[in-house]
Amino acid sequence: MSPEVERQVSPEEITARVIARFETTPDPRLREIMQALVTHLHGFVSEVGLTEEEWARGIEILTATGAITDDKRQEFILWSDTLGVSMLVDALAHPAPTGATESTVLGPFYVPGSPLREYGADISEQEAGTPAWVHGHVLDLDGNPIAGAELDVWQNGDNQLYAVQDAEAPDDHLRGRFITDAEGRFAFRAVRPVPYPIPDDGPVGRMLTATERHPWRPAHIHVVCRAPGFRSVTTHIFDARSEYLDDDTVFAVKPSLLREFADRAADDPERPAGVEEPWVSLELDLVLTPGASEIPADHGRTH
Ligand code: BEZ
Ligand code: FE
Repeated sequence: MSPEVERQVSPEEITARVIARFETTPDPRLREIMQALVTHLHGFVSEVGLTEEEWARGIEILTATGAITDDKRQEFILWSDTLGVSMLVDALAHPAPTGATESTVLGPFYVPGSPLREYGADISEQEAGTPAWVHGHVLDLDGNPIAGAELDVWQNGDNQLYAVQDAEAPDDHLRGRFITDAEGRFAFRAVRPVPYPIPDDGPVGRMLTATERHPWRPAHIHVVCRAPGFRSVTTHIFDARSEYLDDDTVFAVKPSLLREFADRAADDPERPAGVEEPWVSLELDLVLTPGASEIPADHGRTH
């Protein structure tokens, strides 16, 4: 046999051959993505010396991720969130100029088409926790009010669940859309949000357990704010007194998004109509950057 035939193919040659196979991809962006994907995937396998048993386990985990995913449960988003990829993609896509409201993850519980509600309306359609009066302005970078901006808000109740996770809750419970008035003002009645665990009965939950990570998120209200002529911002408002602000399981906390929910007494003269118990208030200004507004994609939900 000639030495040519006996020569073994090295791991580096395998990687180089696969990268070369994408050299003729007509779309240059697709070529860049595929070649970088192979470079880093092979680099990972080589770096950790992945064994056959470990790769077989990896395939099982990917298979289980597909099997548990449907139009209600989105395990792929949970992988993206818990591995910090969602926040990294968001940071690359939405660098916010100083003073603008920063973005964070959309999460899997966004449902488009929330009802339009009047200034000051209640988003709870049944008992859901401590009343919260949320009010403020939508402003541009110079502090001018933006009239006609839309806030699309959703949150969980004191049972830790979003309406889409809760078979007992009406579809429009704890969500709504509000339009700012001529002074850029909005207000709505919500409830104080509570920390909650992301769905952890699937492969992502098993990864969290095996790595001794917890599934908890700090308390927050979700907001998508959009207005013609401005870039939409998808964000959260975090309760500055919540647990888990330092170790959100999806890495979504940004210091600029923390706000105080002020404690208010039951007999406080500023209490919203219908409130007879202790409540909280939250003042919130959202600041938009000029640009094109978009509606977030509905990635599917996770029960
Ligand atoms: C959420 O905030 O609704 C969320 C974000 C990421 C994973 C699970 C839930
Ligand atoms: Fe959430």
